[in-house]
Amino acid sequence: MNESKRKIPLLIDTDPGVDDALALLMAFEDPDHQLLGLTIAAGNVGLKHTVANALKLCEIAGVDVPVYAGCPVPLVHEAEDAAYVHGLDGFGDTNYSPAARQPEAEHAALAIIRLAKQYEGELLLVTLGPLTNLALALRLDPALPSRIARLVVMGGAVTGLGNTSIPAEFNIAFDPEAADIVFRAFPRFDLVDWEAVLRHGFLHTDFEDWLARGDARAHFYDGISRKTREWSEGKRGAHWHSADALAMVAALAPGGITRREVRPIRVETEGRLSRGATPVDWSQRTGQAANAGIVMDYDQAAFEARIRACLGV
Ligand code: RIB
Repeated sequence: MNESKRKIPLLIDTDPGVDDALALLMAFEDPDHQLLGLTIAAGNVGLKHTVANALKLCEIAGVDVPVYAGCPVPLVHEAEDAAYVHGLDGFGDTNYSPAARQPEAEHAALAIIRLAKQYEGELLLVTLGPLTNLALALRLDPALPSRIARLVVMGGAVTGLGNTSIPAEFNIAFDPEAADIVFRAFPRFDLVDWEAVLRHGFLHTDFEDWLARGDARAHFYDGISRKTREWSEGKRGAHWHSADALAMVAALAPGGITRREVRPIRVETEGRLSRGATPVDWSQRTGQAANAGIVMDYDQAAFEARIRACLGV
């Protein structure tokens, strides 16, 4: 984007979380977007940790954007976190020294509503965690979707290959009621699901090389991601998968999306085996409006170049 063009206002709802952190580093680095703030969800780990992690990452990256704490629990039912993946503190239990800064007093849901009004028709909203904050904002301001220019959601498993239960992906499974509210409210949003993430892994050996050659951001990320990478190598083999980083690159640089399918998608909130599933009407048999632009493929080389850049490589 040339200098004369106005930057796109960007708001990120996130539950950092190791892969959230890589996505945030990408956003911090992007010259075409004006990052307005981070609204923080509970999910990967509890809200106390996700807020602290967001503040610490901003400090490491030298980024002074407001951080807004959100809902500490899902809308209706309690849910298990993902500390087994990210560490008890969500950042690999490195016992880092806390950031000096504090979060803002304003609640995340109110910040989403306020900023959507302030940047009406321009705002890019990216969600990297459970959708509790956005759902609460929708309940407070049902006109919210008409104000947001583009919503990109990391979540779901569009053919039922889940990572948290048989059919469910973590962000949706953590708060299915919230996801259902969001998926019904927005006439169209972009979706980067878990199955697309599995198609866009990168070699652990490559990533370790990038971390070794990167700057202070890479050094910090090496520490907070070590546990997750070791866990992933044991469970999934040679490639590492950063779900939120893929969602973020699709949000920041949609020109790199090489295949997208537009279909109706819903959220299952009942079901002993299927709660949190995200059934897609692939054959359009229901006649429902297609609300999801499902990102099927992204330019892998461009994705990896963005990862290297945000690590200073
Ligand atoms: O399923 C992947 C998602 O769950 C990512 O957002 C990751 O951070 C976890 O929250």
